[in-house]
Amino acid sequence: METLGTFAHLAEEIAREAGEMLLAKRPARPEVLATKSSPTDVVTALDKASEELIRARIKAVRPDDAILGEEGGSTGDGRVRWIVDPIDGTVNFLYGLPDWAVSIAVEVDGEVVAGVVNVVPRGEVFTAARGEGAWLSGERLRCNTGVPLNRALVATGFGYETGRRRVQAEVLAHVVPRVRDIRRAGSAAADLCSVAAGRVDGYYERGPQVWDYAAGGLVATEAGARLGGLNGRPASPELTLCAAPGLFGELHDLLAPLDPERDA
Ligand code: IPD
Repeated sequence: METLGTFAHLAEEIAREAGEMLLAKRPARPEVLATKSSPTDVVTALDKASEELIRARIKAVRPDDAILGEEGGSTGDGRVRWIVDPIDGTVNFLYGLPDWAVSIAVEVDGEVVAGVVNVVPRGEVFTAARGEGAWLSGERLRCNTGVPLNRALVATGFGYETGRRRVQAEVLAHVVPRVRDIRRAGSAAADLCSVAAGRVDGYYERGPQVWDYAAGGLVATEAGARLGGLNGRPASPELTLCAAPGLFGELHDLLAPLDPERDA
């Protein structure tokens, strides 16, 4: 019988191996930029290679588990499901910016029980197991608490489609004057870990997929944050919001009337 710690440990081992492979194979920036215009560019190839490695490692140990990956979609139908983002923050990966991550979560009967976010260039591996806390380099993480909205440093992100971005910019125009400042790091998984580590106070975004927020979401909630959507709904691609409970409420009440779940 596996424990949550076993899942977290295996996910960590695999996320570290994928990270090492990506670091070793990531070509120098100019070469990557030169190939980005092609549909089978280096980033896509390494995204796929990373996911294939992760899938192979999971299957070798747990052949009956289901896997959902950003690149390979959904396979299997076990009670245990692995949720994999082989590179979260692909644009950062492309430009050589430090916020890109390998993100792996493990769900049992629909509940995320373990999560690992390896922010590879920073050498930071965030881990969490349900009920057992969130950790970075042996240190237990705690999100910031008691921060009012007007003092909050808030991370967010933008989608890839123009219509969605238009609305995101409109919503952001209402948020900027009401918070300390905004950060756009470029990886939702890393943003959620930043909430956990107190590097930002909150995060919201329209559009992140479950592989973007499953592992980081557990890291954040195990560090004391609340993760959810609008009006009591769970976090989803419609909207994902994360902060300590008090700030969560304030951010929610600022965002809800702005109808941030629409696309233009
Ligand atoms: C993206 C990143 C980004 C977020 C986007 C995501 P990808 O994931 O997490 O921060 O703003 O919504 O799609 O495409 O780099 O895996």
